[in-house]
Amino acid sequence: MDKLLVHGGTSLAGAINISGSKNASLPILAAALLTDQQVIIERVPDVSDTNYMLQILSALGCEVERYSGTVKITAANIHPEAPYEIVRKMRASICVMGPLVARLGRASVSIPGGCVIGDRPIDLHLKGLQAIGAHIDTEGGNILIEAKDGLKGREVDLRGRHGPTVLGTDNLMMAAVLTEGTTIIESAACEPEVVDLADFLNSMGAKIEGAGTRRITIEGVTSLGGTHHTVIPDRIEAGTFMVAGAMSSESGITLNRVRQDQLVGATEKLIEAGHLVNFNDDGSSVTVSPGDTPQGCSITTAPHPGFPTDMQAQFTAMFATTPGISVIEDTIFPQRFMHCAELTRMGADINVDNGSAVVHGVKELSPAPVMASDLRASAALVLAGLRAKGTTEINRLYHIDRGYEMIDEKLLQLGAKVERMRGSA
Ligand code: EPU
Repeated sequence: MDKLLVHGGTSLAGAINISGSKNASLPILAAALLTDQQVIIERVPDVSDTNYMLQILSALGCEVERYSGTVKITAANIHPEAPYEIVRKMRASICVMGPLVARLGRASVSIPGGCVIGDRPIDLHLKGLQAIGAHIDTEGGNILIEAKDGLKGREVDLRGRHGPTVLGTDNLMMAAVLTEGTTIIESAACEPEVVDLADFLNSMGAKIEGAGTRRITIEGVTSLGGTHHTVIPDRIEAGTFMVAGAMSSESGITLNRVRQDQLVGATEKLIEAGHLVNFNDDGSSVTVSPGDTPQGCSITTAPHPGFPTDMQAQFTAMFATTPGISVIEDTIFPQRFMHCAELTRMGADINVDNGSAVVHGVKELSPAPVMASDLRASAALVLAGLRAKGTTEINRLYHIDRGYEMIDEKLLQLGAKVERMRGSA
């Protein structure tokens, strides 16, 4: 297992390019199953989650080619059984369900296991597919989905206890594009990644309207064709580096290949916390530098366009050394506070109770060996390590490699002192 040594206390400077979005790429790669024609997808980040998805597609019978950020997929001869050995590695594998059942009338996918950021049920995914006529059964840890008599468009409300579901919306949208009649998804997720998937599907010949709003209308078509698509920038990678600019630079850092409209939540909170965020005229580049009088503030995560749960851990790391009291509430994944115990080991003053964390800013963090527990928690530990003077050792680096492309190289490019120790226990 790799680990990262972060020799903190250096001021970051310079510019990096933000990669394509991991969370947009995953369902878009799965959507390649909807056509027997070749699809070409650009700016797919080289992270382990996209590699798992490509392994699943290969195991399902797709021809897959990948060179640098470009992926070519042809799903001419596919079968409906997603293998447990690969599926179990990544929860997002469930987004092959919708495309498989729509294209082949049948799918068998392992039930995803528990997850450190919360329970993560899939009831809403199943509700969506059932509503348009799929029969669902479980057997030997697999979900069997069948649509013997075909799927029929209908109106479905996908609102759950914690609000809309991103991949649940994607799954139903992908099934509905090849479903007879009109499917209307009410209480749909409107994250930019859902819009990117809809754009991808429409470029294949689907008829989807309203993606990016709470009501998506999909008029089924009989087949889809090939396409060429470029994935949107990763707004969570961008947000993570924006926090690094506020926490660990003097003159600021610049992030290129971003989209200002997708960074509203992080931008507003950085400004409220007293930092400086400047976009260029077309919103494709941003410079973030620390303000003179940073202050703690409150954050409540919410579905898009609210503050993203995927940025919660990184802001918690920033507030750990921000003067004043910050209160962070995660309404989407109330158990997503594993990073707080590790930050506390570095000297942070954080109390977690019932889905929220109260952070009393301390002057400095001290380096320590810490354990990454999930993707965004690891990012929070890297940010804390950059700030703490001395060497922080981050174990279980594979969590960060799931979703941050070349994080160590990008940090080095910004002048950070980091070392990846390969294969250490
Ligand atoms: N939920 C249900 N039933 C379901 C599905 C979801 O109750 O059938 C609940 C979840 O437990 C949660 C809420 O609904 O409380 C929202 O979950 P959602 O389904 O939107 O999450 P997801 O689609 O599985 C995606 C991202 C996550 C991100 C969430 C929320 C991908 C691959 N994953 O997950 O990203 O946190 O949306 O925005 O797109 C990450 O990148 O670190 C990450 C975890």
